Amino acid sequence: MTQSVLFFDSGVGGLSVLQQVRLHSQPLNLRYVMDDAAFPYGTKSDDELAHRVLQVCLNAVNQLAPDVLVIACNTASTLTLPALRQILDIPVVGVVPAIKPAAKLAQQGHIGLLATPATVERLYINDLIQDFAEHCKVDRFGSSELVYWAEDFLLNGDPVTGLKDHLQPWFDQFPQMSHVVLGCTHFPLLKPQLHQHWPHIHWIDSGEAIARRVAVVLEQEQGQLSTTQCNSGPPGSISLHWTSEQKQQIAAQQFLQQLGDLTEASQLHLAEIDRLSPDASRGADNNPEPGSE
Ligand code: DGL
Repeated sequence: MTQSVLFFDSGVGGLSVLQQVRLHSQPLNLRYVMDDAAFPYGTKSDDELAHRVLQVCLNAVNQLAPDVLVIACNTASTLTLPALRQILDIPVVGVVPAIKPAAKLAQQGHIGLLATPATVERLYINDLIQDFAEHCKVDRFGSSELVYWAEDFLLNGDPVTGLKDHLQPWFDQFPQMSHVVLGCTHFPLLKPQLHQHWPHIHWIDSGEAIARRVAVVLEQEQGQLSTTQCNSGPPGSISLHWTSEQKQQIAAQQFLQQLGDLTEASQLHLAEIDRLSPDASRGADNNPEPGSE
């Protein structure tokens, strides 16, 4: 039977993750949920965000019945993974900033972390740096502007004109910075523009690591041969769901249509949930890919 994976983000950022999974796996039913009614996440308080993420994910899992949930949002993953794993009975894969691989590549060097204002402040990031990048110098830049630009670029085709003015002062301040972690799933959507302005920088995102992790988790779920080796079977389908009342998310539909057979596009209706503790903890994944959790 074709397995089904649900991707979740505040907006279009998680499409960069879905795209990698689509590229690296056998046919799957791919479900994409964007919480556009609460976009952006990166400026919300922890309390507000934790409740919202749990509410949308619970509703989405109940309604769409996936085999695996991918939190394709660093801002949400670094806050809510333990709670999600506690309340859901399917595997939950989280996207977290790829600090570990960046630290390996940069050796003793200087790494930048480009993420949302909320993500750069998280204790989770302090722990990642302490555990995997203590031998490096790490500087953080929190930006919501890039999130909006990525959204407008993908949804409306708007040119991204503000990048240079926005980020150049950071690069001027740290001329030794050689590797920059794209710690928000919206940012890989702007990789061509980032590369154009700063071609000497190695831009590192978590997309491929997540694709590998999802393949392993699906394999464990089904006890089948490597999902990357199974290329036969039904082609799989794609569906898009959003939370706002009015928008049809036409551009996101078009993006997904290029990746496969878009069989459904609809609003996700949200029932209220009981307030749950955001720091409820359940054993983390014990062998995740760096960049996934
Ligand atoms: N794409 C999300 C992330 O990876 C968050 C963007 C936002 O809504 O602020 O952090």
